[in-house]
Amino acid sequence: MHLSEKILESNKRLSQSLLWKLQHEAYCQFGIEAWNQHGVPFYITSNSYTAKNYAQVVFGYLRDCLAQSEIDLEHSIYLLDLGAGAGRFAYFFLRELIQLLDSSSLPKIKLCYVMTDIVPSNIDFWQKHSYLKPYFEQGILDCAYYHHAQKDPIHLINRNETLSKETLINPLILICNYFFDTIPQDIFCFKDGHLEEGRITLFVEGAESASSDPSVINRLKYRYSYQPIPHSKPYYEVPELNILLESYSQLFEGCPFLFPIGAFQALGTFIEWSQSRLLLLAGDQGVCTSDQIRQSGEPKLSLHGSFSFPVSYHSIAAFFNQQGGTAWLTSFSDPTFVVMAGVLGIKSASETSLAFYEHIDSFEPTDYFKLVSLTEDHWKKPPLDHILLLVKLGNWDASVFFAFFSAIRQAIPLASEKQKKLLCATIDRVWEHFYPIGPSTGDFVLNLGVLLFEMKRFTEAKTYFDRSMLISGFNTTALKNIAACHQMLGNDYH
Ligand SMILES: C[S@@+](CC[C@H](N)C(=O)[O-])C[C@H]1O[C@@H](n2cnc3c(N)ncnc32)[C@H](O)[C@@H]1O
Repeated sequence: MHLSEKILESNKRLSQSLLWKLQHEAYCQFGIEAWNQHGVPFYITSNSYTAKNYAQVVFGYLRDCLAQSEIDLEHSIYLLDLGAGAGRFAYFFLRELIQLLDSSSLPKIKLCYVMTDIVPSNIDFWQKHSYLKPYFEQGILDCAYYHHAQKDPIHLINRNETLSKETLINPLILICNYFFDTIPQDIFCFKDGHLEEGRITLFVEGAESASSDPSVINRLKYRYSYQPIPHSKPYYEVPELNILLESYSQLFEGCPFLFPIGAFQALGTFIEWSQSRLLLLAGDQGVCTSDQIRQSGEPKLSLHGSFSFPVSYHSIAAFFNQQGGTAWLTSFSDPTFVVMAGVLGIKSASETSLAFYEHIDSFEPTDYFKLVSLTEDHWKKPPLDHILLLVKLGNWDASVFFAFFSAIRQAIPLASEKQKKLLCATIDRVWEHFYPIGPSTGDFVLNLGVLLFEMKRFTEAKTYFDRSMLISGFNTTALKNIAACHQMLGNDYH
Protein backbone atom coordinates (compact mmCIF):
# COMPACT_ATOMS: atom_id res chain seq x y z
CA MET A 1 0.00 0.00 0.00
CA HIS A 2 1.18 3.57 -0.77
CA LEU A 3 0.90 6.06 2.06
CA SER A 4 -1.19 8.48 0.01
CA GLU A 5 -3.81 5.85 -0.85
CA LYS A 6 -7.11 5.58 0.98
CA ILE A 7 -8.34 2.03 0.49
CA LEU A 8 -12.07 1.46 0.02
CA GLU A 9 -11.79 -2.30 -0.30
CA SER A 10 -9.04 -4.85 -0.87
CA ASN A 11 -8.82 -7.91 -3.08
CA LYS A 12 -12.53 -8.47 -3.69
CA ARG A 13 -13.86 -10.78 -6.36
CA LEU A 14 -14.99 -8.31 -9.03
CA SER A 15 -18.66 -9.36 -9.12
CA GLN A 16 -18.84 -8.95 -5.33
CA SER A 17 -17.09 -5.62 -5.19
CA LEU A 18 -18.43 -2.52 -3.49
CA LEU A 19 -18.44 -1.07 -7.01
CA TRP A 20 -21.87 -2.47 -7.78
CA LYS A 21 -23.43 -1.01 -4.66
CA LEU A 22 -21.95 2.38 -5.60
CA GLN A 23 -23.32 1.93 -9.12
CA HIS A 24 -26.81 1.20 -7.83
CA GLU A 25 -26.70 4.18 -5.49
CA ALA A 26 -25.32 6.47 -8.19
CA TYR A 27 -28.17 5.71 -10.59
CA CYS A 28 -30.76 6.07 -7.82
CA GLN A 29 -29.24 9.36 -6.67
CA PHE A 30 -28.93 10.83 -10.19
CA GLY A 31 -32.33 9.78 -11.51
CA ILE A 32 -32.98 11.26 -14.94
CA GLU A 33 -30.19 13.80 -14.41
CA ALA A 34 -27.75 10.95 -15.12
CA TRP A 35 -28.30 11.85 -18.78
CA ASN A 36 -28.54 15.63 -18.39
CA GLN A 37 -26.03 16.72 -15.78
CA HIS A 38 -23.89 13.74 -14.90
CA GLY A 39 -22.64 12.86 -18.36
CA VAL A 40 -23.59 9.18 -18.50
CA PRO A 41 -23.00 8.32 -22.19
CA PHE A 42 -26.11 7.52 -24.19
CA TYR A 43 -25.82 9.18 -27.57
CA ILE A 44 -24.95 6.09 -29.56
CA THR A 45 -27.57 3.82 -28.02
CA SER A 46 -30.31 6.38 -28.00
CA ASN A 47 -30.38 8.08 -31.37
CA SER A 48 -32.95 7.65 -34.10
CA TYR A 49 -30.44 5.91 -36.42
CA THR A 50 -29.72 3.12 -33.92
CA ALA A 51 -33.41 2.82 -33.04
CA LYS A 52 -34.46 2.51 -36.68
CA ASN A 53 -31.93 -0.25 -37.34
CA TYR A 54 -32.77 -2.16 -34.16
CA ALA A 55 -36.45 -1.95 -35.16
CA GLN A 56 -35.58 -3.64 -38.47
CA VAL A 57 -33.93 -6.55 -36.66
CA VAL A 58 -36.90 -7.00 -34.33
CA PHE A 59 -39.20 -6.80 -37.35
CA GLY A 60 -37.15 -9.54 -39.03
CA TYR A 61 -37.40 -11.67 -35.90
CA LEU A 62 -41.19 -11.20 -35.73
CA ARG A 63 -41.43 -12.29 -39.36
CA ASP A 64 -39.39 -15.40 -38.56
CA CYS A 65 -41.59 -16.19 -35.56
CA LEU A 66 -44.82 -15.65 -37.49
CA ALA A 67 -43.62 -17.77 -40.40
CA GLN A 68 -43.00 -20.60 -37.95
CA SER A 69 -46.24 -20.06 -35.99
CA GLU A 70 -44.24 -19.21 -32.89
CA ILE A 71 -46.54 -16.35 -31.88
CA ASP A 72 -49.95 -16.82 -30.32
CA LEU A 73 -51.73 -13.77 -31.69
CA GLU A 74 -54.24 -13.85 -28.84
CA HIS A 75 -51.48 -13.00 -26.39
CA SER A 76 -49.01 -10.16 -26.08
CA ILE A 77 -45.46 -10.37 -27.26
CA TYR A 78 -43.25 -8.57 -24.76
CA LEU A 79 -40.16 -6.52 -25.51
CA LEU A 80 -38.19 -5.82 -22.37
CA ASP A 81 -35.85 -2.83 -22.42
CA LEU A 82 -33.49 -3.62 -19.53
CA GLY A 83 -32.18 -0.46 -17.87
CA ALA A 84 -34.14 1.85 -20.19
CA GLY A 85 -32.55 5.02 -18.78
CA ALA A 86 -33.96 8.24 -20.16
CA GLY A 87 -36.38 6.40 -22.47
CA ARG A 88 -35.14 8.09 -25.63
CA PHE A 89 -34.33 4.79 -27.34
CA ALA A 90 -37.70 3.32 -26.34
CA TYR A 91 -39.56 6.24 -27.90
CA PHE A 92 -37.64 6.23 -31.20
CA PHE A 93 -37.66 2.45 -31.46
CA LEU A 94 -41.35 2.04 -30.75
CA ARG A 95 -42.29 4.61 -33.38
CA GLU A 96 -40.16 2.85 -35.98
CA LEU A 97 -41.39 -0.63 -35.14
CA ILE A 98 -45.06 0.40 -35.11
CA GLN A 99 -44.57 2.06 -38.49
CA LEU A 100 -42.98 -1.09 -39.90
CA LEU A 101 -45.72 -3.34 -38.54
CA ASP A 102 -48.52 -1.03 -39.67
CA SER A 103 -47.19 -0.81 -43.21
CA SER A 104 -46.56 -4.54 -43.49
CA SER A 105 -48.98 -7.29 -44.40
CA LEU A 106 -48.21 -9.18 -41.20
CA PRO A 107 -51.13 -10.18 -38.99
CA LYS A 108 -51.87 -7.86 -36.08
CA ILE A 109 -49.51 -8.49 -33.20
CA LYS A 110 -50.26 -7.49 -29.62
CA LEU A 111 -47.07 -5.69 -28.85
CA CYS A 112 -46.10 -4.64 -25.34
CA TYR A 113 -42.81 -2.76 -24.89
CA VAL A 114 -41.76 -2.71 -21.25
CA MET A 115 -39.27 -0.11 -20.05
CA THR A 116 -37.51 -1.32 -16.92
CA ASP A 117 -35.11 0.13 -14.39
CA ILE A 118 -33.95 -0.09 -10.81
CA VAL A 119 -34.56 3.64 -10.35
CA PRO A 120 -38.11 4.52 -9.26
CA SER A 121 -37.72 8.18 -10.28
CA ASN A 122 -36.82 7.13 -13.85
CA ILE A 123 -40.02 5.10 -14.00
CA ASP A 124 -41.90 8.14 -12.71
CA PHE A 125 -40.28 10.30 -15.39
CA TRP A 126 -41.43 7.91 -18.17
CA GLN A 127 -44.95 7.71 -16.77
CA LYS A 128 -45.27 11.51 -16.91
CA HIS A 129 -43.54 12.01 -20.26
CA SER A 130 -46.00 13.56 -22.71
CA TYR A 131 -44.34 11.81 -25.69
CA LEU A 132 -44.74 8.37 -24.12
CA LYS A 133 -48.27 8.96 -22.84
CA PRO A 134 -50.13 7.94 -26.03
CA TYR A 135 -48.26 4.62 -26.07
CA PHE A 136 -49.05 3.98 -22.41
CA GLU A 137 -52.71 4.78 -23.10
CA GLN A 138 -52.85 2.39 -26.05
CA GLY A 139 -51.31 -0.36 -23.90
CA ILE A 140 -48.37 -0.73 -26.32
CA LEU A 141 -46.00 0.56 -23.64
CA ASP A 142 -45.63 -0.29 -19.99
CA CYS A 143 -42.95 0.03 -17.34
CA ALA A 144 -41.63 -1.99 -14.46
CA TYR A 145 -39.02 -2.18 -11.74
CA TYR A 146 -36.37 -4.75 -12.67
CA HIS A 147 -33.00 -5.63 -11.17
CA HIS A 148 -30.62 -7.77 -13.24
CA ALA A 149 -30.42 -10.56 -10.64
CA GLN A 150 -34.14 -10.66 -10.02
CA LYS A 151 -35.88 -13.98 -10.35
CA ASP A 152 -39.20 -12.74 -9.00
CA PRO A 153 -41.91 -11.91 -11.52
CA ILE A 154 -41.75 -8.49 -13.17
CA HIS A 155 -44.74 -6.36 -12.30
CA LEU A 156 -46.08 -4.31 -15.21
CA ILE A 157 -47.24 -1.14 -13.51
CA ASN A 158 -49.98 0.02 -15.89
CA ARG A 159 -51.41 -3.33 -16.90
CA ASN A 160 -51.14 -4.50 -13.31
CA GLU A 161 -49.98 -7.88 -14.61
CA THR A 162 -46.89 -9.93 -13.93
CA LEU A 163 -44.36 -11.42 -16.29
CA SER A 164 -42.90 -14.72 -15.19
CA LYS A 165 -42.34 -18.27 -16.29
CA GLU A 166 -46.01 -18.96 -15.62
CA THR A 167 -47.46 -16.05 -17.58
CA LEU A 168 -45.23 -15.81 -20.65
CA ILE A 169 -46.84 -17.38 -23.71
CA ASN A 170 -44.88 -15.89 -26.62
CA PRO A 171 -41.16 -15.59 -27.33
CA LEU A 172 -39.47 -12.75 -25.51
CA ILE A 173 -37.50 -9.86 -27.00
CA LEU A 174 -34.75 -8.33 -24.88
CA ILE A 175 -33.21 -4.95 -25.62
CA CYS A 176 -30.02 -4.34 -23.63
CA ASN A 177 -28.35 -1.06 -24.47
CA TYR A 178 -25.44 -0.05 -22.26
CA PHE A 179 -26.89 -2.52 -19.77
CA PHE A 180 -24.43 -5.41 -19.62
CA ASP A 181 -21.58 -2.91 -19.18
CA THR A 182 -23.32 -1.53 -16.09
CA ILE A 183 -23.97 -4.76 -14.17
CA PRO A 184 -21.56 -7.16 -12.40
CA GLN A 185 -18.75 -8.99 -14.15
CA ASP A 186 -15.98 -11.32 -13.03
CA ILE A 187 -12.39 -11.23 -14.18
CA PHE A 188 -10.16 -14.23 -14.70
CA CYS A 189 -6.76 -15.19 -15.98
CA PHE A 190 -5.33 -18.59 -16.97
CA LYS A 191 -1.82 -19.23 -15.69
CA ASP A 192 -0.19 -22.43 -16.97
CA GLY A 193 -3.67 -23.66 -17.85
CA HIS A 194 -5.06 -23.07 -14.35
CA LEU A 195 -7.88 -20.65 -13.73
CA GLU A 196 -7.17 -17.69 -11.48
CA GLU A 197 -9.86 -15.42 -10.05
CA GLY A 198 -9.28 -11.70 -10.51
CA ARG A 199 -9.75 -9.50 -7.47
CA ILE A 200 -10.04 -5.75 -7.34
CA THR A 201 -8.65 -3.26 -4.84
CA LEU A 202 -10.36 0.12 -4.84
CA PHE A 203 -8.78 3.28 -3.52
CA VAL A 204 -8.65 7.05 -3.83
CA GLU A 205 -5.44 9.03 -3.85
CA GLY A 206 -4.06 11.92 -1.84
CA ALA A 207 -5.89 13.71 0.92
CA GLU A 208 -9.29 12.63 -0.41
CA SER A 209 -11.58 11.04 2.12
CA ALA A 210 -12.48 7.44 1.27
CA SER A 211 -16.24 7.90 1.46
CA SER A 212 -18.55 5.25 0.14
CA ASP A 213 -20.93 7.83 -1.29
CA PRO A 214 -21.39 7.38 -5.08
CA SER A 215 -19.70 10.76 -5.63
CA VAL A 216 -16.45 8.85 -5.03
CA ILE A 217 -16.87 7.00 -8.35
CA ASN A 218 -15.23 9.67 -10.51
CA ARG A 219 -12.14 9.62 -8.25
CA LEU A 220 -11.76 5.85 -8.05
CA LYS A 221 -8.43 4.14 -8.68
CA TYR A 222 -8.06 0.41 -8.80
CA ARG A 223 -5.70 -2.48 -9.33
CA TYR A 224 -6.22 -6.17 -9.86
CA SER A 225 -4.63 -9.23 -8.31
CA TYR A 226 -5.17 -12.89 -9.18
CA GLN A 227 -5.81 -15.87 -6.91
CA PRO A 228 -5.59 -19.52 -8.05
CA ILE A 229 -8.93 -21.33 -7.85
CA PRO A 230 -9.03 -24.78 -6.23
CA HIS A 231 -9.72 -27.50 -8.82
CA SER A 232 -11.96 -29.45 -6.49
CA LYS A 233 -15.28 -27.75 -7.17
CA PRO A 234 -16.84 -26.02 -10.18
CA TYR A 235 -16.60 -22.24 -10.10
CA TYR A 236 -20.17 -21.37 -11.13
CA GLU A 237 -23.39 -23.17 -10.24
CA VAL A 238 -24.44 -23.18 -13.90
CA PRO A 239 -22.44 -25.96 -15.62
CA GLU A 240 -22.60 -24.27 -19.06
CA LEU A 241 -20.72 -21.27 -17.68
CA ASN A 242 -17.93 -23.49 -16.39
CA ILE A 243 -17.68 -25.15 -19.80
CA LEU A 244 -17.48 -21.75 -21.45
CA LEU A 245 -14.84 -20.61 -19.00
CA GLU A 246 -12.81 -23.78 -19.51
CA SER A 247 -12.93 -23.29 -23.30
CA TYR A 248 -10.93 -20.11 -22.73
CA SER A 249 -7.96 -21.90 -21.15
CA GLN A 250 -6.25 -22.44 -24.50
CA LEU A 251 -7.36 -19.16 -26.04
CA PHE A 252 -6.39 -16.71 -23.33
CA GLU A 253 -3.44 -18.15 -21.42
CA GLY A 254 -1.82 -15.26 -19.53
CA CYS A 255 -4.43 -12.68 -20.66
CA PRO A 256 -6.87 -11.31 -18.12
CA PHE A 257 -10.44 -11.35 -19.42
CA LEU A 258 -13.83 -10.19 -18.19
CA PHE A 259 -16.71 -12.61 -17.87
CA PRO A 260 -20.16 -10.97 -17.95
CA ILE A 261 -21.72 -12.88 -15.09
CA GLY A 262 -24.47 -10.27 -14.51
CA ALA A 263 -25.51 -10.61 -18.16
CA PHE A 264 -25.59 -14.41 -17.81
CA GLN A 265 -27.70 -14.14 -14.66
CA ALA A 266 -30.24 -11.94 -16.43
CA LEU A 267 -30.22 -14.08 -19.59
CA GLY A 268 -30.56 -17.29 -17.54
CA THR A 269 -33.79 -16.05 -15.97
CA PHE A 270 -35.32 -14.96 -19.27
CA ILE A 271 -34.28 -18.16 -21.01
CA GLU A 272 -36.08 -20.10 -18.31
CA TRP A 273 -39.18 -17.88 -18.40
CA SER A 274 -39.46 -17.99 -22.19
CA GLN A 275 -38.64 -21.69 -22.41
CA SER A 276 -35.58 -20.82 -24.48
CA ARG A 277 -37.48 -18.73 -27.04
CA LEU A 278 -36.02 -15.28 -27.28
CA LEU A 279 -34.26 -12.58 -29.22
CA LEU A 280 -31.50 -10.55 -27.61
CA LEU A 281 -30.46 -7.28 -29.19
CA ALA A 282 -27.67 -5.64 -27.24
CA GLY A 283 -25.04 -2.93 -27.61
CA ASP A 284 -22.12 -1.88 -25.42
CA GLN A 285 -18.47 -0.99 -25.44
CA GLY A 286 -17.03 -4.46 -25.75
CA VAL A 287 -15.01 -7.15 -27.42
CA CYS A 288 -16.14 -9.61 -30.06
CA THR A 289 -13.06 -11.49 -31.20
CA SER A 290 -10.38 -13.44 -29.36
CA ASP A 291 -7.78 -11.01 -30.75
CA GLN A 292 -9.67 -8.08 -29.23
CA ILE A 293 -9.70 -9.89 -25.86
CA ARG A 294 -5.96 -10.61 -26.07
CA GLN A 295 -5.20 -7.03 -27.04
CA SER A 296 -7.36 -5.36 -24.42
CA GLY A 297 -5.15 -6.16 -21.40
CA GLU A 298 -6.48 -5.58 -17.91
CA PRO A 299 -9.99 -4.17 -18.11
CA LYS A 300 -10.37 -0.45 -17.69
CA LEU A 301 -13.14 1.10 -15.72
CA SER A 302 -14.76 4.02 -17.56
CA LEU A 303 -15.84 6.64 -15.07
CA HIS A 304 -18.71 8.96 -15.92
CA GLY A 305 -20.53 9.65 -12.62
CA SER A 306 -21.48 6.02 -12.77
CA PHE A 307 -19.01 3.57 -14.35
CA SER A 308 -18.89 0.86 -17.01
CA PHE A 309 -16.73 -2.07 -18.07
CA PRO A 310 -16.34 -3.40 -21.60
CA VAL A 311 -18.52 -6.43 -22.26
CA SER A 312 -17.33 -9.70 -23.75
CA TYR A 313 -19.73 -10.29 -26.61
CA HIS A 314 -17.34 -13.05 -27.52
CA SER A 315 -18.65 -14.87 -24.42
CA ILE A 316 -22.30 -13.91 -24.88
CA ALA A 317 -22.25 -15.07 -28.52
CA ALA A 318 -20.55 -18.32 -27.46
CA PHE A 319 -23.25 -18.78 -24.81
CA PHE A 320 -26.00 -18.48 -27.44
CA ASN A 321 -24.22 -20.99 -29.66
CA GLN A 322 -23.74 -23.32 -26.71
CA GLN A 323 -27.52 -23.15 -26.02
CA GLY A 324 -28.23 -24.26 -29.60
CA GLY A 325 -29.08 -20.75 -30.77
CA THR A 326 -27.51 -18.35 -33.24
CA ALA A 327 -25.59 -15.17 -32.56
CA TRP A 328 -24.62 -12.39 -34.94
CA LEU A 329 -21.74 -10.02 -34.42
CA THR A 330 -20.64 -7.41 -36.91
CA SER A 331 -17.83 -8.00 -39.41
CA PHE A 332 -15.76 -4.95 -38.43
CA SER A 333 -16.57 -4.71 -34.74
CA ASP A 334 -15.03 -1.72 -33.00
CA PRO A 335 -14.64 -2.08 -29.21
CA THR A 336 -15.95 1.45 -28.65
CA PHE A 337 -19.46 0.16 -29.42
CA VAL A 338 -20.52 -3.26 -30.58
CA VAL A 339 -23.95 -4.66 -31.36
CA MET A 340 -25.01 -8.28 -31.07
CA ALA A 341 -28.19 -10.15 -31.92
CA GLY A 342 -28.85 -13.64 -30.63
CA VAL A 343 -31.82 -15.95 -30.96
CA LEU A 344 -32.88 -19.11 -29.23
CA GLY A 345 -35.75 -21.41 -30.03
CA ILE A 346 -36.60 -20.93 -33.69
CA LYS A 347 -35.62 -23.32 -36.46
CA SER A 348 -34.88 -20.71 -39.07
CA ALA A 349 -33.85 -17.15 -38.31
CA SER A 350 -33.28 -16.09 -41.91
CA GLU A 351 -35.21 -12.81 -41.69
CA THR A 352 -33.45 -11.87 -38.43
CA SER A 353 -30.13 -12.69 -40.01
CA LEU A 354 -30.88 -10.69 -43.15
CA ALA A 355 -32.02 -7.70 -41.10
CA PHE A 356 -28.89 -7.84 -38.95
CA TYR A 357 -26.61 -7.80 -41.99
CA GLU A 358 -28.64 -5.20 -43.88
CA HIS A 359 -29.34 -2.84 -41.01
CA ILE A 360 -26.60 -3.30 -38.43
CA ASP A 361 -23.56 -4.85 -40.05
CA SER A 362 -23.65 -2.81 -43.27
CA PHE A 363 -23.27 0.52 -41.47
CA GLU A 364 -23.11 0.17 -37.70
CA PRO A 365 -24.23 2.80 -35.19
CA THR A 366 -20.55 3.39 -34.49
CA ASP A 367 -19.85 3.94 -38.22
CA TYR A 368 -22.41 6.70 -38.31
CA PHE A 369 -20.95 8.20 -35.14
CA LYS A 370 -17.46 8.11 -36.68
CA LEU A 371 -18.64 9.80 -39.84
CA VAL A 372 -20.15 12.60 -37.78
CA SER A 373 -17.01 12.90 -35.63
CA LEU A 374 -14.74 12.98 -38.68
CA THR A 375 -16.81 15.77 -40.17
CA GLU A 376 -16.64 17.71 -36.90
CA ASP A 377 -12.90 17.16 -36.42
CA HIS A 378 -11.64 17.81 -39.93
CA TRP A 379 -14.00 20.40 -41.31
CA LYS A 380 -14.18 23.75 -39.58
CA LYS A 381 -17.25 24.74 -41.55
CA PRO A 382 -18.79 21.74 -43.35
CA PRO A 383 -21.00 22.70 -46.31
CA LEU A 384 -24.71 22.95 -45.50
CA ASP A 385 -25.60 20.22 -48.01
CA HIS A 386 -23.13 17.86 -46.37
CA ILE A 387 -24.60 18.49 -42.91
CA LEU A 388 -28.15 17.96 -44.14
CA LEU A 389 -27.15 14.68 -45.78
CA LEU A 390 -25.48 13.51 -42.56
CA VAL A 391 -28.61 14.33 -40.60
CA LYS A 392 -30.75 12.48 -43.13
CA LEU A 393 -28.44 9.46 -43.09
CA GLY A 394 -28.83 9.41 -39.30
CA ASN A 395 -32.63 9.14 -39.61
CA TRP A 396 -33.00 12.87 -38.82
CA ASP A 397 -30.76 12.65 -35.80
CA ALA A 398 -31.51 15.67 -33.59
CA SER A 399 -28.19 15.52 -31.70
CA VAL A 400 -26.18 15.66 -34.93
CA PHE A 401 -28.27 18.55 -36.17
CA PHE A 402 -27.60 20.32 -32.87
CA ALA A 403 -23.85 19.60 -33.07
CA PHE A 404 -23.71 21.52 -36.36
CA PHE A 405 -26.02 24.33 -35.27
CA SER A 406 -23.41 27.11 -35.64
CA ALA A 407 -22.27 25.89 -39.05
CA ILE A 408 -25.89 25.71 -40.25
CA ARG A 409 -26.61 29.18 -38.91
CA GLN A 410 -23.54 30.66 -40.57
CA ALA A 411 -24.52 29.06 -43.89
CA ILE A 412 -27.97 30.67 -44.00
CA PRO A 413 -27.03 34.13 -45.39
CA LEU A 414 -25.41 32.51 -48.46
CA ALA A 415 -27.88 29.63 -48.88
CA SER A 416 -29.94 29.39 -52.06
CA GLU A 417 -33.74 29.29 -51.87
CA LYS A 418 -33.58 25.56 -52.69
CA GLN A 419 -31.20 24.94 -49.80
CA LYS A 420 -33.38 26.94 -47.44
CA LYS A 421 -36.40 24.88 -48.45
CA LEU A 422 -34.45 21.71 -47.72
CA LEU A 423 -33.30 23.11 -44.38
CA CYS A 424 -36.90 23.94 -43.41
CA ALA A 425 -38.02 20.41 -44.30
CA THR A 426 -35.06 18.96 -42.38
CA ILE A 427 -35.96 21.03 -39.29
CA ASP A 428 -39.48 19.57 -39.36
CA ARG A 429 -38.11 16.02 -39.64
CA VAL A 430 -35.59 16.61 -36.87
CA TRP A 431 -38.37 17.90 -34.65
CA GLU A 432 -40.32 14.69 -35.34
CA HIS A 433 -37.24 12.74 -34.23
CA PHE A 434 -36.68 14.63 -31.03
CA TYR A 435 -37.34 13.41 -27.48
CA PRO A 436 -36.93 15.91 -24.63
CA ILE A 437 -35.23 14.91 -21.39
CA GLY A 438 -36.09 17.69 -19.01
CA PRO A 439 -36.49 21.46 -19.45
CA SER A 440 -32.94 22.18 -20.66
CA THR A 441 -33.58 20.26 -23.89
CA GLY A 442 -36.11 22.98 -24.81
CA ASP A 443 -33.13 25.12 -25.91
CA PHE A 444 -32.64 22.80 -28.86
CA VAL A 445 -36.17 23.50 -30.06
CA LEU A 446 -35.65 27.21 -29.49
CA ASN A 447 -32.62 27.02 -31.76
CA LEU A 448 -34.70 25.41 -34.51
CA GLY A 449 -36.90 28.50 -34.27
CA VAL A 450 -33.85 30.78 -34.51
CA LEU A 451 -32.81 29.15 -37.81
CA LEU A 452 -36.32 29.56 -39.22
CA PHE A 453 -36.40 33.18 -38.06
CA GLU A 454 -33.13 33.87 -39.83
CA MET A 455 -34.59 32.38 -43.00
CA LYS A 456 -37.51 34.79 -42.55
CA ARG A 457 -39.97 31.92 -41.99
CA PHE A 458 -41.60 33.85 -39.13
CA THR A 459 -44.79 31.82 -38.79
CA GLU A 460 -42.84 28.55 -38.63
CA ALA A 461 -40.26 30.12 -36.28
CA LYS A 462 -43.02 31.17 -33.89
CA THR A 463 -44.34 27.58 -33.85
CA TYR A 464 -40.92 26.37 -32.68
CA PHE A 465 -40.57 29.11 -30.04
CA ASP A 466 -44.00 28.06 -28.73
CA ARG A 467 -42.91 24.41 -28.76
CA SER A 468 -39.72 25.23 -26.87
CA MET A 469 -41.79 26.75 -24.05
CA LEU A 470 -43.89 23.59 -23.81
CA ILE A 471 -40.64 21.81 -22.92
CA SER A 472 -38.69 24.36 -20.93
CA GLY A 473 -41.57 26.28 -19.38
CA PHE A 474 -41.86 30.07 -19.23
CA ASN A 475 -38.83 31.49 -20.96
CA THR A 476 -38.06 35.16 -21.59
CA THR A 477 -35.83 34.44 -24.63
CA ALA A 478 -38.60 32.46 -26.30
CA LEU A 479 -41.14 35.16 -25.44
CA LYS A 480 -38.94 37.89 -26.92
CA ASN A 481 -38.49 35.79 -30.05
CA ILE A 482 -42.24 35.23 -30.33
CA ALA A 483 -42.77 38.99 -30.02
CA ALA A 484 -40.16 39.53 -32.77
CA CYS A 485 -42.01 37.05 -35.02
CA HIS A 486 -45.27 38.92 -34.44
CA GLN A 487 -43.57 42.17 -35.26
CA MET A 488 -42.08 40.81 -38.48
CA LEU A 489 -45.36 39.24 -39.50
CA GLY A 490 -47.16 42.49 -38.69
CA ASN A 491 -44.71 44.40 -40.88
CA ASP A 492 -45.37 41.93 -43.67
CA TYR A 493 -49.10 42.43 -43.38
CA HIS A 494 -48.98 46.24 -43.52
C1 LIG B 1 -25.77 3.05 -18.73
S1 LIG B 1 -27.45 3.18 -18.42
C2 LIG B 1 -28.17 2.73 -19.96
C3 LIG B 1 -29.48 3.40 -20.22
C4 LIG B 1 -30.07 3.17 -21.61
N1 LIG B 1 -30.31 1.81 -21.89
C5 LIG B 1 -29.15 3.78 -22.65
O1 LIG B 1 -28.70 3.12 -23.56
O2 LIG B 1 -28.88 4.98 -22.54
C6 LIG B 1 -27.78 1.79 -17.41
C7 LIG B 1 -29.23 1.69 -16.95
O3 LIG B 1 -29.37 0.48 -16.17
C8 LIG B 1 -29.94 0.77 -14.90
N2 LIG B 1 -29.28 -0.16 -13.95
C9 LIG B 1 -28.12 0.01 -13.28
N3 LIG B 1 -27.83 -1.08 -12.56
C10 LIG B 1 -28.83 -1.96 -12.78
C11 LIG B 1 -29.10 -3.28 -12.32
N4 LIG B 1 -28.28 -3.88 -11.48
N5 LIG B 1 -30.23 -3.90 -12.75
C12 LIG B 1 -31.07 -3.26 -13.60
N6 LIG B 1 -30.87 -2.03 -14.08
C13 LIG B 1 -29.75 -1.38 -13.68
C14 LIG B 1 -29.63 2.23 -14.65
O4 LIG B 1 -30.53 2.84 -13.76
C15 LIG B 1 -29.69 2.81 -16.05
O5 LIG B 1 -30.98 3.19 -16.41
